[in-house]
Amino acid sequence: MSEMSSLLLAASTVQSVGLVIALALVVGFLVYAAFNIKAGREEVGAEIELAANLKPYLDDDELETTKLDRTLTFGLLTLAIVGIGLPAYWLAEPGRIDGAIEEYDRVFITRGEEQYTDGSGCNACHGPDGVGGVAPFTILDDNSEFVAQVEWKAPALDTVMLRYSREEVKFILDYGRPFSPMPAWGAAGGGPRTEQEIENIIDYLESITVSPEESVEAVEGELVQALDLSGPGDIDYADLETGEALFNLGRESGFAGGAYACGRCHTRGWSFSRGTIEPEGADVADYIDYPDGFGGYGPRLQGIIPRQFASVEALVEFLTVGAERGVAYGNNGLSSQGMMPGFGTNPNTDEIEDGIYESDGGMLSDEMIESIARYVASLEESAATDGESQNEEDS
Ligand code: HEC
Ligand code: HEC
Repeated sequence: MSEMSSLLLAASTVQSVGLVIALALVVGFLVYAAFNIKAGREEVGAEIELAANLKPYLDDDELETTKLDRTLTFGLLTLAIVGIGLPAYWLAEPGRIDGAIEEYDRVFITRGEEQYTDGSGCNACHGPDGVGGVAPFTILDDNSEFVAQVEWKAPALDTVMLRYSREEVKFILDYGRPFSPMPAWGAAGGGPRTEQEIENIIDYLESITVSPEESVEAVEGELVQALDLSGPGDIDYADLETGEALFNLGRESGFAGGAYACGRCHTRGWSFSRGTIEPEGADVADYIDYPDGFGGYGPRLQGIIPRQFASVEALVEFLTVGAERGVAYGNNGLSSQGMMPGFGTNPNTDEIEDGIYESDGGMLSDEMIESIARYVASLEESAATDGESQNEEDS
């Protein structure tokens, strides 16, 4: 309320000052006009006698030739300047605007990079240039007693703009990831960063994003390592083992902080069960080694067909585009925040043209996604997985 009234006061102060100035101007002009008219009247007819320096003007002959020519030439020149100069300016304008935008982009990306490194220290967990890393995490039991100190995989961020839209990444940065070492950064979630700083960080993440081709190539390379093959040509996507390796990509090696894996969100304890556990021999049996697709941040995946999807094809389609905030999927799925990534499309560059969906691809190739879907479809419900998943109510 007090803010309101002081605002009004400020407005009225500015208004009164403006009014006084305007009034002074009007009065001043009227006075000036009055004097001028009066003075002008006195001088009517006095000109010829008073002005000794007046000389006779050009004669008709000259007026109609040299003088006329000169005036016309001057007019033509001025017209040419306006006629050529304006279009030239107009032609250069888009370039100038592009240049200005580029400069802003550069400034925003630089600011975002500063936030990523010094300002917020994202690199401490997500690695330099967003290649992935680990974050320290302390496991506490139900009574908040210390159980163990572990390393929680922090996913690579040089692919995050391939799997999430800008809005979705903003949501993660604003609110963090519940029950994980990823804190809230945005003011909206109680974090220390302003709206503008968050936007700049996302600009930076956009600038380091790899292409879908580079992403698929990196995954092939990692698959070759994980399956001990001699080259990408040997990858057999029809083999369930390939699907399993993709589902858990980076679990052993730490590749890209598990960014490409499904397990990091869909298997409880996945992100730290293969890392350093301190002290050695700590009793962490209740926290690690859950079966694939047990459920974690994302829902349980065992028996997903036909529980949620009618067929492997329908599952492939879902994995390709992911979930969108508040949009229904499958039999009875509803995404609360669109946190299930799309692995075969890029929400930031894909377009719908003439009703046809155009995509340059995403983090994984179609055959990779099909391979994962077949593996997920093979995950049967079992006695060991009857328990509630951690965040079942989230789904
Ligand atoms: C203390 C370590 C830590 C810091 C600092 C940190 N993060 Fe994270 N972040 C994580 C972890 C761990 C995860 C994965 C959580 C999970 O397993 O669900 C994560 C997840 C994310 C995700 C979601 C990625 C995905 O695909 O699931 C984004 C985006 C992200 N962080 C961005 C950032 C940015 C930007 C900063 C700096 C402003 C930052 N993080 C700082 C640890 C950290
Ligand atoms: C960053 C975390 C994350 C990753 C990585 C992830 N998911 Fe999900 N997934 C979710 C969340 C969260 C949901 C629930 C829907 C939502 O809120 O968007 C979900 C939903 C699903 C569903 C629907 C489940 C149901 O019962 O409704 C399937 C199937 C699924 N994910 C499979 C996968 C597969 C396969 C992968 C790997 C290719 C994967 N997810 C990677 C977070 C993730």
